[in-house]
Amino acid sequence: MTKAGLFLTFEGIDGSGKSSQARMLAERLRSLGYDVVLTREPGGSAGAEEIRSLVLEGDPDRWSAETEILLFTAARRDHLERTILPALAEGKVVICDRFADSTRMYQGLSRGDLRGLVDQLHSLMIGREPDLTVLIDMDPETGLSRAKGRQGTEERFEDFGLDLQQQMRAGFLALADEFSDRFRVVDGNRDMDSVAQDVTDIVLQALR
Ligand code: TYD
Repeated sequence: MTKAGLFLTFEGIDGSGKSSQARMLAERLRSLGYDVVLTREPGGSAGAEEIRSLVLEGDPDRWSAETEILLFTAARRDHLERTILPALAEGKVVICDRFADSTRMYQGLSRGDLRGLVDQLHSLMIGREPDLTVLIDMDPETGLSRAKGRQGTEERFEDFGLDLQQQMRAGFLALADEFSDRFRVVDGNRDMDSVAQDVTDIVLQALR
């Protein structure tokens, strides 16, 4: 039998708790003996982490929407080449906090309808979808207050406001319908352990 890795992504609005869930899942799978690579976007490779500070720090008007799509895609390409594909080739489980679905939503929806451009560039330069995507669905108001509670320098996207946060949530749910073969939606409006239990069940089923 050849070992085939599993490429798993977490998606959700800001403050949905997906980063904690990704971390908890990685620990759980490791305790079960799986070889896990936990990574994130933007970032996940040395070059992509440099691009991360370009896109997440500084003035909100620092980049045009189109330039931003190019930067996120450049970061993703580096991450895919250097981190994700090599790990999958070794049969590892790759858990990635955000991937192309975030670009479809954030860059595709937030400054006009650029979804077509995002998809075109994705098929040209990335051409890989996750095997499984867990969407942590979360009440937009709760998510926003959690996200705003964090201090940091990565705040270019954090002043979106409730309207956009609501639009994003609806957009992610629509995306889950569009790609229903790989998306699983988990109700994030519960305590962390209950959410984590659902996530573990879904992933273990996919690994079997
Ligand atoms: P992230 O580090 O996941 O922050 P959080 O844990 O608060 O969700 O992502 C940082 C920001 O980057 C987030 O506001 C969403 C944004 N983003 C995009 O706009 N496009 C993308 O393609 C990705 C991967 C992230």
